[in-house]
Amino acid sequence: MSCKCNCGENHKDEKMEKILSKYEKDKSNLIQILNEVQESYGYIPKQAQLDISEYLDIPMAEIYGVITFYSRFSLEPKGKYNVAVCLGTACYVKGSEKILDKLKEKLGIDVGQTTPDGKFSIESTRCIGACGLAPVFTINGEVYGKATPELLEKVIEEYKTKE
Ligand code: FES
Repeated sequence: MSCKCNCGENHKDEKMEKILSKYEKDKSNLIQILNEVQESYGYIPKQAQLDISEYLDIPMAEIYGVITFYSRFSLEPKGKYNVAVCLGTACYVKGSEKILDKLKEKLGIDVGQTTPDGKFSIESTRCIGACGLAPVFTINGEVYGKATPELLEKVIEEYKTKE
């Protein structure tokens, strides 16, 4: 990412420099680099996409395509409360898609997006190892099992009143 020194030059920030320096300038490293950026920043900032594009000599459109293809990558910072609905097989069979639909409707955003006030974001996940409680969703890692759209609504309402 650009530095804030106003020198007019496009200095990459240190974190980004460090990530890129670990990898050869080889296109096959794209996913690995994106994984690290996602982990480090919590999303893939636009400037990081530009830096990667330049480093690996890959067009921005291609990088954007990869980011949007994989649900684990997001283009926006996560909300204060990240709500993740498990779409693993056990949860899916027990209706987790209905929970996800309700969540999207309730927050007015899609998977990978964050509400304009920065409070909530939605993620879909693979099995999180709590199949016995299927279907499950989590909020900042706290698991809600045997979930229903009604339970989700209630929990979201509670979080809405939280700071
Ligand atoms: S499939 Fe959802 S926790 Fe395993």
